[in-house]
Amino acid sequence: MSGLEEQLVADAFRSNWIAPLGPMVDAFENEMCEYIDVEHGAALSSGTAALHLAMLLLEIKASDEVLCATLTFSASANAITYVGAQPVFIDCDRKTWNLDPDLLEEELAACGETGRRPKAVIAVDLYGQCADYGRIEEICGRFEVPLIEDAAEALGATCNGRKAGAFGKMAVFSFNGNKIITTSGGGMLVSSDGEMIRKARFLATQARDPAPHYEHSHVGYNYRMSNILAALGRGQLSVLDKRVATRRRNYEYYKDAISELPGIEFMPIASYGSPNYWLTDILITPEEFGVDREAVRLALERENIESRPIWKPMHTQPVFKHCRARGGSVSEDLFKRGLCLPSGSQMTYNDLERVAGIIKSCCKAG
Ligand SMILES: Cc1ncc(COP(=O)(O)O)c(C=O)c1O
Repeated sequence: MSGLEEQLVADAFRSNWIAPLGPMVDAFENEMCEYIDVEHGAALSSGTAALHLAMLLLEIKASDEVLCATLTFSASANAITYVGAQPVFIDCDRKTWNLDPDLLEEELAACGETGRRPKAVIAVDLYGQCADYGRIEEICGRFEVPLIEDAAEALGATCNGRKAGAFGKMAVFSFNGNKIITTSGGGMLVSSDGEMIRKARFLATQARDPAPHYEHSHVGYNYRMSNILAALGRGQLSVLDKRVATRRRNYEYYKDAISELPGIEFMPIASYGSPNYWLTDILITPEEFGVDREAVRLALERENIESRPIWKPMHTQPVFKHCRARGGSVSEDLFKRGLCLPSGSQMTYNDLERVAGIIKSCCKAG
């Protein structure tokens, strides 16, 4: 926490707005929209809620198909199933670890030939790096399929001079505890389409029709963010750029310390933008490094240091094994060899040095 959060939360208490909605929510939405340069945003209880609302707003229903990046956290794909639709997973490319535009194009063309048009595409900005929206937006536009940007991990990143969250029909953010800024739990749906966001707010506040009593002509949800948590979010947003700088420092430290080791590669940084460096991720090739990713993870764990394998691709998850996938071998390889290094904003040089030292000590090459 930066300090400003405490003051803003105290202001929210003093104003007695201890409720979902309130002036802090309005201000947080406005400040986020200004930061991202989109017109409208609805602050919500989670990124998952934002994804679910995106499905509802696009009127996606049972038996529809939605294309989704396979290398992601399960929430991106779960939302598709909340409305009864089927995810179709698309592999990532090696250049960005994000949705492969060539495979996306192939899948959309194949769907066209069989007369089935997917109802949406969910692209994910993995580990804080935007997908290649220069190409993905063009492809989705050509096939007339709405694009949803899952920017849950990428607040503060850019692509072609625009901020993460500015792409597609709608974009989703998460302020979960592990994200670059947090409201402990929370999310936001943003869009340049004011009508979409108006509907999102309506559905997220129990879909109450205008009437003095409680009148409902739609199924509603309790998905809004509380005024107290929005105060936290405003304080956190004010230090976002500092957080990005700190996470970048982590990345650069690791890069200097271990990139020369045999069999170590870093997640590539695409030339079209800059990531928010949320997590620093590496690949370990055991034939060159001497031991595999799991041996390194366990060596860190023995020193009480948490690191995690890269997301396990959705097309390999038991819950989604019945779903169609296009490609898959790239994400499977990244999962097998990939490790997310400790990357918190509070890490000291000592902490970084310890992690790098343990990784170096695992290297059995030569
Ligand atoms: C890519 C991605 N999408 C969606 C979510 C879901 O966000 P939340 O945890 O706020 O529901 C997360 C993270 O938690 C995520 O990493």
